[in-house]
Amino acid sequence: MRPVLVTGATGTVGRHVVDGLRDAPDVAVTAASRDPDRARDRLDCPVVAFDVTDPTTFRDAFADVDALFLVRPPALSRVRRDIVPALAAAIGAGVDHVVFLSVIGADRNPLVPHARIESWLAESGVDTTFLRASFFMQNLSTTHREEIRRGELPVPAGTGATSFVDARDVAAVAVETLRTGTTGSYTLTGPEAIEYDAVCRRLSAMLDHEVTYDPPSLPRFCWSQYRSGGSLVRAAVVAAIYTTVRLGLADRVTDDVRTVLGRPPIDFETFVRDYRSVWT
Ligand SMILES: NC(=O)c1ccc[n+]([C@@H]2O[C@H](COP(=O)([O-])OP(=O)(O)OC[C@H]3O[C@@H](n4cnc5c(N)ncnc54)[C@H](OP(=O)(O)O)[C@@H]3O)[C@@H](O)[C@H]2O)c1
Repeated sequence: MRPVLVTGATGTVGRHVVDGLRDAPDVAVTAASRDPDRARDRLDCPVVAFDVTDPTTFRDAFADVDALFLVRPPALSRVRRDIVPALAAAIGAGVDHVVFLSVIGADRNPLVPHARIESWLAESGVDTTFLRASFFMQNLSTTHREEIRRGELPVPAGTGATSFVDARDVAAVAVETLRTGTTGSYTLTGPEAIEYDAVCRRLSAMLDHEVTYDPPSLPRFCWSQYRSGGSLVRAAVVAAIYTTVRLGLADRVTDDVRTVLGRPPIDFETFVRDYRSVWT
């Protein structure tokens, strides 16, 4: 049994990685969380306390671990200060394979924190698998859930298309590569790129209410993010992400999910059907 530690185990992708590894006969999975008691209630597997910014948690978390599923917590962007010490401790403790949840385009954009994590891992000598994921479909069922329930999707994406991927597919690829020790880089997308206008039309057709797309200007978007409790820095980061969509840089579709899993990626309609209850 290969011991695997899953970080971000309570998150969008990590929870499905735990599910997939728990059912695998050749792997012993442990979940990592800052709040092990809360995580234990949600995940049916051993849980260890882990805070990537707290070195006192590293020894127990990485004891007897061979492979690591690494999630960069979204709030942490100072890689050298906040992420690297934990990675160095993991490798020092014997981790020989890191499967990292990265972001689409990280190989071409050195400014994103994921690119700096990839570089550090590549130079460390550990075996690596980089999963460069496109936007998760699940952003629509989490971040945008209340807006969609109200019948709107106010994002400044213009007419740019996005190759949304289902987080369950990202997790399935992670499970496969963790189990088999497969290394390399994969750009994980859904089967097509969809404009936000079409996202709303498809949601309207499948839900009991109309969802309209009325993209705000960038300043109006930043202001509304700030007013609803986000920091200006966070608003600027999100605005920058949607700017890449507007410029047509988020529409790349690949076959990598099929290459690893031997089946096509989950399509948008299946995602909406599976998550329908969150918007109704
Ligand atoms: N959203 C997208 O469309 C998208 C697309 C591509 C890539 N990504 C990348 O995927 C990653 C995950 O993003 P997400 O929005 O889906 O978040 P998420 O995984 O749903 O949530 C964050 C996870 O990080 C853990 N965490 C938070 N702070 C931590 C800390 N200090 N130490 C250890 N664990 C900590 C949390 O676990 P506990 O609370 O249990 O500790 C939680 O499980 C990010 O790096 C993001 O950039 C996102």
